Amino acid sequence: MANVAVIGAQWGDEGKGKIVDWLAERADMVVRFQGGHNAGHTLVVGENVYKLSLLPSGIVRGTPSVIGNGVVLDPWALKAEIERLAAQGVTATPETLRIADNCALILPFHRDLDGLREDASGAGKIGTTRRGIGPAYEDKVGRRAIRVCDLAHLDDLGPQLDRLTAHHDALRAGFGEPPIDRDTLVAELRAIADFVLQFARPVWRDLNLAKEAGKRILFEGAQGVLLDIDHGTYPFVTSSNTIAGSAAGGSGLGPAAVGFVLGIAKAYTTRVGSGPFPTELDGDGPDGATGERLGTRGYEFGTVTGRKRRCGWFDAVLVRQSAAVGGITGIALTKIDVLDGFEEVKICTGYRLRGEVIDYYPAHAADQALVEPVYETMPGWQESTAGARSWADLPAQAIKYIRRVEELIRCPVALVSTSPERADTILVRDPFAD
Ligand code: IMP
Repeated sequence: MANVAVIGAQWGDEGKGKIVDWLAERADMVVRFQGGHNAGHTLVVGENVYKLSLLPSGIVRGTPSVIGNGVVLDPWALKAEIERLAAQGVTATPETLRIADNCALILPFHRDLDGLREDASGAGKIGTTRRGIGPAYEDKVGRRAIRVCDLAHLDDLGPQLDRLTAHHDALRAGFGEPPIDRDTLVAELRAIADFVLQFARPVWRDLNLAKEAGKRILFEGAQGVLLDIDHGTYPFVTSSNTIAGSAAGGSGLGPAAVGFVLGIAKAYTTRVGSGPFPTELDGDGPDGATGERLGTRGYEFGTVTGRKRRCGWFDAVLVRQSAAVGGITGIALTKIDVLDGFEEVKICTGYRLRGEVIDYYPAHAADQALVEPVYETMPGWQESTAGARSWADLPAQAIKYIRRVEELIRCPVALVSTSPERADTILVRDPFAD
């Protein structure tokens, strides 16, 4: 019986929320291992829609949920999200939610710095979620972070605050901002400390005990491989490793605990924020109209920031690369129904770069800007795939499309998702059964 890690195989927003919820029902624990409240996972359960940013998706069904040490945690965002869910009838208790006591905190000045940098960057901005994710990871790696366990020792914070403010006050001065008000910061932390500490634990112990007891663990990735700090479209990436390898380091379990890696990919491509996007369909011409159509049919607006997502055809080169570097065992292909009704559909199979066709995405920004997608065109299908629950419910052309995707990305399709409803799923290979 395998544990399962779910990761995005594109630029995030692949529909992980539904798949994680679907798997969470059979998991004994659900674990977030990277990112923070920059994520946006939408879960549709019956009549109710839940929007989660920081909390693991298991929380909605009462499955014990863990925020691992690899996550950066904004205590105020945590409280707000827990209160929002409580208003929807979902309660987080110390039994259902456990937070790693060695998690680094996102503090108010991280959020300020994220915004100040974005505003100062003009056209070169990353297009971050402005939630302070990058600056908080910088402080973690710079060994200046305040962590969850520090909330129980606020009277001893002096030397840490010295290091932190020395670094940040210089940066803030560069932006014409006043120094950090230490008294206010400590008072704010004092006011929130007990709320966070009720959930704080050495979660690595809980997870290792669960592993020994043969429990099923579901690792819930956020963002996608193309936003990975190492393997993504740097510098237009997030500040964590989004690949399955970080499930181990970000939770305190060894790599052998990460079993089946389910990569989630949309049947087309979207991206929110700046950065290269070879198959983007934009502009005033027919391409732009096709991109608009994908965006409208797929309701492509960010869960976290409400920003309109950029849309394009499926890029098999990028997903093949994601599957390789991300360690993906099988793919869940989502939103196939958004492609219903197109005369023809295209898949990018390679890139033309300086007269040559290459089968990978080059690392340098200049090359990334130059690549032109090489497309394979297939006939579309006019029938609806929405709500299909078996291969027999799919039109022949849609099946051909899925099979071709599988071939090109060199990775089998384990699931096909045909609507936001969790039951509208075609199961090819059960990740937990492996
Ligand atoms: P940050 O994670 O807020 O620093 O943003 C860095 C980049 O990652 C930006 O392009 C964001 O739009 C993108 N990003 C961060 N979180 C998500 C997500 O959950 N879905 C899609 N894109 C995201």
